Amino acid sequence: MTLSVVTLPGDGVGPEVTAQATRVLQAISELLNLSIEIHEALIGGAALDSVGNPLPAQTLEYCRSANAIFLGAVGGPKWANAKVELRPEQGLLGLRKALGLFANLRPIKIHPALMDTSVLRPELLKGVDILMVRELTGGLYFGKRGRSTSYAFDTCEYSVREIERISRLAGNLAKTRRGKVTSVDKANVLDTSRLWRDTVDQVFAAEFADIELEHIYVDAAAMYLLSRPADFDVLLTENMFGDILSDEASMLSGSLGLLPSASLGADGPGLFEPIHGSAPDIAGQGIANPCGAILSISMLLRHSLDQPQAADAVEQAVAGVLEAGLRTSDLATIEGNTISTTTFGDEVLSRLSL
Ligand code: IPM
Ligand code: MG
Repeated sequence: MTLSVVTLPGDGVGPEVTAQATRVLQAISELLNLSIEIHEALIGGAALDSVGNPLPAQTLEYCRSANAIFLGAVGGPKWANAKVELRPEQGLLGLRKALGLFANLRPIKIHPALMDTSVLRPELLKGVDILMVRELTGGLYFGKRGRSTSYAFDTCEYSVREIERISRLAGNLAKTRRGKVTSVDKANVLDTSRLWRDTVDQVFAAEFADIELEHIYVDAAAMYLLSRPADFDVLLTENMFGDILSDEASMLSGSLGLLPSASLGADGPGLFEPIHGSAPDIAGQGIANPCGAILSISMLLRHSLDQPQAADAVEQAVAGVLEAGLRTSDLATIEGNTISTTTFGDEVLSRLSL
């Protein structure tokens, strides 16, 4: 059987990190003797420039029929002033919506070799192992909106069904971990948050009696992520809160460039992407950190291709590079150990074994 993976390099550093992720996927498929067909397609600004649409119909068609999708990054200053439907981000948001990818998983672990690179003191980082579960197809990102010259609005909407399905996923994931879920909301102010809190309570009372559930306000969550990050296990959020808190949480690990993510629906292909953006300031220099992208391949192997052993192998190879003291410039603390994006890829490949 041949599996198919679509790669969407996108913009900025997207193509650079996608190149390394693709090499790793190719190498692991050879090691596994698994036939994987990799098909590259356009998204974001690159698609706008070449066909005038951030999510071309052909890209969507390839994605729908694939087993899994990998995305580099979208966006950049070149398209910053475009109308909403002509922004690169619409490509990614449209893809999430069209494929029903309602759950975004962002694991945050601190690699022991990087304890000193984090912005936090090492003693606060001991035991940090967070899984952010972010609702991805609702809320402010997809509510009614509008803008005139003197006025604009975005609305946040959530239905019980949307909250139930993401809560259930968070509960099931917590069962495979330390058995705790922290749900984030702003229930002291927002109606959507009050519905969120009540629905999460109902789902957990009915289906997850053995899971410890706590609720915290989003402003407090932002603080606790810095003051006691090791207390979190599964962190459940709506769309916008999850976007903000996941960038904050990435700083625990030392660099936004390190973290992978998986976006999953009820069925169909998953979408795997590093959580960093297109980083236009460093694009084209060959210095972007490909870790988040390569670790997204590990998540792709685990969640969409059912290859847990291969997923572990990719994680171990990345860990081996970091243990050897090799760093891209975002993490370099010692002169002389800085390597390029491609060399990081070479180092991962040379350590890859099943
Ligand atoms: C992310 C990104 C996206 C988001 C952007 C690029 C639309 O920041 O995946 O976190 O806001 O969801
Ligand atoms: Mg974000």
